[in-house]
Amino acid sequence: MAQIAVIGAGYVGLTTAVCFSHLGHDVVCADIDEAKVAQLTRGEVPIVEAGLEAMVREGLEGGRLSFVLGAASAARAAEFAYLCVPTPQGDDGSADLTYIEAAAREIGPVLPSEAVVVNKSTVPVGSTRVVERVLGRDDVVVVSNPEFLREGSAVHDFLNPGRIVIGSDDQSAAVRVASLYIGVTAPIIVTDPASAETIKYASNAFLAAKISFVNAIAAVCDAVGADVKDVVLGMGYDSRIGHEFLKPGPGFGGSCLPKDTRALVHIADDAGYSFDLMRGVITVNEDQFQRVAAKIREMAGGSLEGVKVAVWGLTFKARTDDTRESPALRIVSLLTEQGAEVQAYDPAVKGPVGGVVPANDPYSVCEGAGVLAVLTEWDDFRWLDFDKVAGLMETPRVIDARNLLDKPALERRGFSYVGIGR
Ligand code: NAD
Ligand code: UGA
Repeated sequence: MAQIAVIGAGYVGLTTAVCFSHLGHDVVCADIDEAKVAQLTRGEVPIVEAGLEAMVREGLEGGRLSFVLGAASAARAAEFAYLCVPTPQGDDGSADLTYIEAAAREIGPVLPSEAVVVNKSTVPVGSTRVVERVLGRDDVVVVSNPEFLREGSAVHDFLNPGRIVIGSDDQSAAVRVASLYIGVTAPIIVTDPASAETIKYASNAFLAAKISFVNAIAAVCDAVGADVKDVVLGMGYDSRIGHEFLKPGPGFGGSCLPKDTRALVHIADDAGYSFDLMRGVITVNEDQFQRVAAKIREMAGGSLEGVKVAVWGLTFKARTDDTRESPALRIVSLLTEQGAEVQAYDPAVKGPVGGVVPANDPYSVCEGAGVLAVLTEWDDFRWLDFDKVAGLMETPRVIDARNLLDKPALERRGFSYVGIGR
């Protein structure tokens, strides 16, 4: 079993650390956030992620997992150092490598000889070389091993991946990284670093393209009177198309698809290719926030001035507490800009976010509301008491931006219902 340092204890780093320790490795996970390190050392997990807390406790109790402050403390005895730090969007749309470079600078002087540094953060083509240069070590190899997990099912996805991608010009380092995934059954693709880095961006970009495509089809369905649910069902049975990632909604959000699509446009531009298809995907997505806000305005009678809008859902999707680049927050700000009074509820968001102070229950936000907007697909919303909701609202009208609710059942209760593309 290997000695692994994981740098960064966020969604990817924490998941990587607990899963490698679950597979039997000795893992030291480092973060720069002192409070987070202390919390994790007590076995408390600061994010909502199914199964993660149990795995942290398993690792701590088994003595195979520990948390430390600062990357250097974790890297001193490491055979492998996984970089799982943020790669946010820079001012020009490109990926900002500041955190990656800082982490590499910290571990460079202390890594043991023959260690392998692994880029798990999503990094643009050429970043393997950047890390090599910053480390300044001839006796250390840098390998790309991008991550494909989804928030909300991070642990499951890490342990049951569709594929493991390893990018390295050093075959023996690639085999060493592959051997860490002992017990995980998945095809392993070993390629050069540039191809591995491109696989990650191309995959996220393709998923984003599917979502923008289906949101565009939903707009067509709205215009011609078709039902997008049936359209997608009929398309999906063609195995070349498939059913996955074709749910229309308020647009894609989260910490990755928005930044990675923009970064790919930038990578392509730098390489001399104008990726207009991807620009279109991003534009359709930006338009989708506006389209949903316009649906809410139309349902309110053409103006949002002084209208109370109840919002259910603030996270960028269900089963996470992550609100980074959440479409719900984008739509809320479009509504408030137009004079609406927004009252919001989300099962996973308790503190203020994006200028919204969420309420503690889904019913109180409906009091006196002229429209209810469902912006995140939390399953809980389907089972609420809609007679009670109708009674609380000024007028029972709902915009279901996730096509989550039972339209005929709501209409029977006197609601006006508008979904996306149906
Ligand atoms: P995150 O913001 O949740 O976590 C990053 C962590 O790194 C933070 O806790 C931060 O304090 C810590 N950190 C920053 N600098 C550090 C340093 N020098 N030493 C130690 N810790 C440091 O980020 P994330 O969502 O886990 O994403 C990390 C990377 O993985 C990004 O490149 C992202 O694109 C990629 N990725 C994310 C997901 C996802 O679902 N979130 C999936 C696949 C890939
Ligand atoms: C996404 C990818 O799915 C992961 O494979 C990848 O590892 C990750 O980005 C990353 O690189 O960080 P994630 O951001 O957790 O994962 O969320 P997704 O499930 O992909 O959803 C992204 C957004 O698209 C959400 O706002 C979601 O509501 C929306 N979406 C998704 C739709 O509107 N329709 C769909 O059919 C699917």
